[in-house]
Amino acid sequence: MLRITVLVSGGGTNLQAIIDSIESGRIQGAQIGCIISSNPNAYALERAKKHRIRARVISKNEYPDMAARTEALLATLKQEETDLIVLAGYMSVLQPKLVQAYQGRIINIHPSLIPKFCGAGFYGKKVHQAVLDAGETESGATVHYVDEGVDTGEIIVQKKVPVLEGDTADTLAARVLEEEHQLLTQAINTVIEKMNH
Ligand code: GAR
Repeated sequence: MLRITVLVSGGGTNLQAIIDSIESGRIQGAQIGCIISSNPNAYALERAKKHRIRARVISKNEYPDMAARTEALLATLKQEETDLIVLAGYMSVLQPKLVQAYQGRIINIHPSLIPKFCGAGFYGKKVHQAVLDAGETESGATVHYVDEGVDTGEIIVQKKVPVLEGDTADTLAARVLEEEHQLLTQAINTVIEKMNH
């Protein structure tokens, strides 16, 4: 059994998608050992509790120093015997030390068609507003490996989603999010297969 640690910051619908996929057998050979939230008020923590998954908060408030925060993350990841880290709506950038320690074993979901609308400053609702402001007719979601850059790692899967007339950042976000849930399961299966070979 591969052990996944999921890093979250917010609502956790992508976390829920992973939980559901594991429970229904759409993801096999893996389990969520633990979730780590950067935000003590994240609804994702409630989701973990409901499914009896261990949860930890490692926040900027608790660890204002970035190096200390990285050490806390590394200690938990190690303690949890993490094989794969999934960033599912995690709104912090991982430091190079952590990325190097888990090279090729960290994936991130991003709500745009990378290389468009990604990188520093593009997260959550801001991504969708930027897509609308640019007058794009399509957007989408991407799951990629995490390297030392921001949203620059190798792409695993990508899915297009149309932008519709009258879309707001909220309506577009909701349409993309629905696809993200499928895409993340698909990507995790791809990665599990690769790790098992
Ligand atoms: C998702 O749309 C995810 O792609 C995005 O935040 C949302 C989290 O939703 N992530 C980023 O913008 C990372 N740069 P969730 O908490 O319901 O999974």
